[in-house]
Order: sequence, then structure tokens, then C-alpha cells
Amino acid sequence: SRDIRLAVIPGDGIGTEVVAEGLKVLDAAGIKLETTGYDLGAKRYHASGETLPDAVLEELRGYDAILLGAVGDPSVPPGVLERDLLLKLRFELDHYVNLRPVKLFPGVETPLGGAKPADIDMVVVREGTEGPYAGAGGVLRKGTPHEIATQESLNTAYGVERVVRYAFEKAQSRPRKKLTLVHKTNVLTYAGDLWARVTDLVAPEFPEVTVDYCHVDAASMFFVNQPERFDVVVTDNLFGDILTDIGAAIAGGIGLAASGNVNPDRTAPSMFEPVHGSAPDIAGQGKADPTATILSVAMLLDHLGLAAEAARIEQAVAGDLLDRRGVSAARSTREIGDDIAARVAG
Ligand code: NAD
Ligand code: IPM
Ligand code: MN
Repeated sequence: SRDIRLAVIPGDGIGTEVVAEGLKVLDAAGIKLETTGYDLGAKRYHASGETLPDAVLEELRGYDAILLGAVGDPSVPPGVLERDLLLKLRFELDHYVNLRPVKLFPGVETPLGGAKPADIDMVVVREGTEGPYAGAGGVLRKGTPHEIATQESLNTAYGVERVVRYAFEKAQSRPRKKLTLVHKTNVLTYAGDLWARVTDLVAPEFPEVTVDYCHVDAASMFFVNQPERFDVVVTDNLFGDILTDIGAAIAGGIGLAASGNVNPDRTAPSMFEPVHGSAPDIAGQGKADPTATILSVAMLLDHLGLAAEAARIEQAVAGDLLDRRGVSAARSTREIGDDIAARVAG
């Protein structure tokens, strides 16, 4: 079979450090790759004012998949790189599923005393192209005491139905076959009502799937005190963003949380990235944990149909995580990558 064509966007801060380890592990897995790096991020923005030039976007459409580190830098106003680079990629490449597993690996410490791996094993299906992220809204009388800022949430029947249907399929494929819709139907009555009706409408197509509903405030609590309630969670873009940082925290920390921005229809490449950001507080020090990126690489391979290779990487990570138990000496980003790569190769 031909080599996988992979676009790599290391981005900013620890993004470059963790992506290097992700590529190292891909190499150790013997994946035949043709990688092309893209220098998008803060540096390019400062040099040329460009965030995501049209020509680059069009080029990116031609790859099998994209691996991204993280974007965002203190030297760039908030939102420039996040909106005009990262979110633009998610929107333009129609990544309507933001897939974020929340899974406690054996041996990993969780702040939830007594929680076992079987208790924390869910997948959050976060909508990726709509909600408050769509950018609708505006500002009036800016800078005056009477300033008015609106930031609307965009929810289309088409957009909600396709992500809800994906979540049902995901639930159907898992042993517990449980789907929880998370929203705020008691306050966000227009959007919440649409999400609830769409879920009710799709449910009969999946008679084996048990459907549950939680308001997002209660869900935030249950993530912490009853994580075993959840199998597949489907939710809007912003709720999913927030819930998956809670998910990361309960499953061992943000350094372990992987994600995929998936275009299930395969009309454009999907993009895989850790849930965390560019972490300016530790950037350049070799302190970042590359595990989230390495698990994102496993998701990437799985998406491309290389399930065995993906499983091998996940097992290597599981082994490494088990061996971290009770070990206080911190390894560098590169050492963790080396150790996981050695397990994959060996
Ligand atoms: P962050 O995830 O970058 O960092 C939050 C905290 O987690 C920091 O203390 C950081 O040191 C720690 N952390 C993050 N990743 C880690 C890792 N791999 N290993 C060890 N510790 C890790 O979130 P933030 O501080 O809110 O945002 C920083 C910048 O990143 C902002 O510009 C933000 O917009 C951007 N951001 C980008 C993405 C992305 O590219 N997908 C995601 C989140 C935030
Ligand atoms: C994430 C990040 C992004 C988001 C930001 C940087 C746009 O927090 O990937 O979780 O909100 O989706
Ligand atoms: Mn986030």
C-alpha cells in the first residue's frame, strides 16, 4: 500500500516538543509515511501577518490526515491563532466530530479517590463546527460604559443531527451502549430543545442504545463523583470543550488527553491533536508530557484503518503509564517519547 501522506503542524510552545515525540513513535511503529511540515503559528504570524493562507488550506485538503501540536502564544492577541488558524481548520475541513476519549489507564493516579479504570471509560463526542464557536455576534458602543457584547450559539438541525447520529453509532459499537446528551435545556431553550428533539428523533434507529440526559452543570459534577455514569457523551462545542478538560483531569491530567477532529464523511482530512494547549508556562523546558500527542497519533492510525498499529501504540503507552506508578523522578518530554517508542519497536 502507498505511504500515508501526513501534514504536520507543530504550532506553538510545547506543540513543537510533543509533536516531535508523536512522529518518533509513528516511526518506531514502522508506519510508512510521507510527512510535510507547516510552520503555521505565532512565528509565521509575526513574520508575515499570516495565520492560515488560502493556498496552505487548499494544500492541506490533499493529505490523508493532519497532526497538530497546539497553537496560541502570549505575544499574539487571544483569538487570532485560535480562531483564524485552529478553528478555521476545524470548520473548513468540516471536523464536525471532536472525539475526546476520557479513559483512566491502569496505574494512573486520579484525583478521584478509589476510582478504577472500569469507572472512567467514556468518549465525549463534542460537536466541532457550530455552537458559540461559530463566531456569530458582535459588539456595540465598544469601550464605553454601555458596551454590549453578544456571542451567539449557532445550532442547525443538519449540524446537530449528524453529530448526534455519529454518537449513536459510537455508543452502538461499545459494550455498554449508553449515550448521554449533555446540554442546558432548562435555560438554553431554543438550542437545547433542538438537541433534545434531534436525539429523540434518531434514537429509534438505535434500539439497543440506552439514552440519558444531563444538564451540563450536573454533568460536570457527575464527571467528578460518578464518572461511571458515562459511556458516550454527546454535547455542543463549548460544553464539550469544558467537560473534556474535566475529563482530562479525572483521567490523570491534561498531559494524557488525546483528541481527533474527525470528518466522518471523509470529504477532507481529519486532524489529530492533544486536548491541551501550547502551555507557555513550561514551553521550551522539556517538561511537557508527550503522551496525549502519542495517543492522538494512535487515534490517527485507527482513523486511517491501521487498527493493529494503533493498538500497539496504545499498549505501549499503557505499559509506560503502568511503570510510572510511584516513580517520582520526572522524565523529559524526549525521554518519555524514547521510552514509548522503544516499547512500540520492541
Ligand atoms: P494549556 O493546556 O496550554 O495549559 C494549561 C496547564 O496545563 C498549564 O499549566 C500547562 O503547563 C499544563 N499542561 C498543558 N499541557 C501539558 C503537557 N503536555 N504536559 C504537562 N503539562 C501540561 O492551556 P492554557 O494555559 O489555557 O492555554 C495556553 C495557550 O494555548 C492559549 O493561547 C490557548 O488559547 C492555547 N490553547 C490551544 C489549544 C490547541 O491548540 N488545541 C488548546 C488549548 C489551549
Ligand atoms: C481545545 C482548545 C480550543 C477550543 C481553543 C484553543 C480554540 O481549548 O482544543 O480544546 O476551545 O476548542
Ligand atoms: Mn479546550
